[in-house]
Amino acid sequence: MLHATADFAAGRVPDATAEPAMDAGSTLRSTSAASFDPAVVSQYRITDEPYYLPVRDELAQFEAAYAARLPLMLKGPTGCGKTRFVEHMAWRLGRPLVTVSCNEDTTASDLIGRFLLDANGTYWQDGPLTLAARAGAICYLDEVVEARQDTVVAIHPLTDARRSLSLDRKNELVHAHPDFQLVISYNPGYQRMLKDLKPSTKQRFVALDFHYPAPEVERDIVMHEGRVPRGVAEKLVAIGGKMRNLKGHGLEEGASTRMLVYAATLIGRGIAPLAACSMALVQPISDDPDMLDALENVVLGFFE
Ligand SMILES: Nc1ncnc2c1ncn2[C@@H]1O[C@H](COP(=O)(O)OP(=O)(O)OP(=O)(O)O)[C@@H](O)[C@H]1O
Ligand SMILES: [Mg+2]
Repeated sequence: MLHATADFAAGRVPDATAEPAMDAGSTLRSTSAASFDPAVVSQYRITDEPYYLPVRDELAQFEAAYAARLPLMLKGPTGCGKTRFVEHMAWRLGRPLVTVSCNEDTTASDLIGRFLLDANGTYWQDGPLTLAARAGAICYLDEVVEARQDTVVAIHPLTDARRSLSLDRKNELVHAHPDFQLVISYNPGYQRMLKDLKPSTKQRFVALDFHYPAPEVERDIVMHEGRVPRGVAEKLVAIGGKMRNLKGHGLEEGASTRMLVYAATLIGRGIAPLAACSMALVQPISDDPDMLDALENVVLGFFE
């Protein structure tokens, strides 16, 4: 499957930055349909349908939010299908998808753009958010809570009626293309005591709450993604369910759908189920010897 969601991983833009001072008294240039390179945007088009099995009514809910161009927040634990869902929806809606994985070093310039220096002097390079806003793409900011606060605030004008983005250093105000939509993801369980989004950010989004799929749905996902028979998928999903009960009792997060798919993939490639479960479900999730024993025992209840 071709995934055209080439990650604009924060920090991948070259370091050679030059920030020319703005002319004093210069006026702000306002652009509504500013130029962008169609060849660049075409990289972000999703040509083949990303496999996504709906868990409830989320396709219609995303479509309604997109029709109204409401900014959307996807909440949910790691590996429960948020990214796959956005990829599927971008394909369904025929929009390019620009994905940014945010981390604690992600700055506003990483999203918006910066002046760069080459042999011919300085030139402006749009960041992924600006590119998406100009081109009418869906911009997906993954784990936005990780980004620095100034970065998060920089997206505010794009999320309200203004739908604009100020390129202060370039002295330009970009009005988002009518097809542009902003989607963010957010894991409410993870590091929540340390980091959270401000109410003024949260209240700019409508939210879809994701959970691990119901067992029958998750079984079908594991069968499809891992290419294993139904009986194997059922056992993996049952193991996942038991592991999720250990969340808060020594496990920070339960086994994700992603982990179950990994285990299935290894089994599908000929690794014995016990070893595959150890590799994909047990060892990655804990380093505590007692917890590892407990998890191995859960697996032994299903595979021998
Ligand atoms: N509803 C679903 N339909 C199809 N595949 C799914 C679904 N849910 C989960 N998956 C599978 O689980 C894997 C992990 O999902 P995904 O990468 O979308 O998780 P995520 O919620 O974005 O996680 P993270 O928060 O860590 O980024 C996918 O690659 C896919 O194989
Ligand atoms: Mg993701």
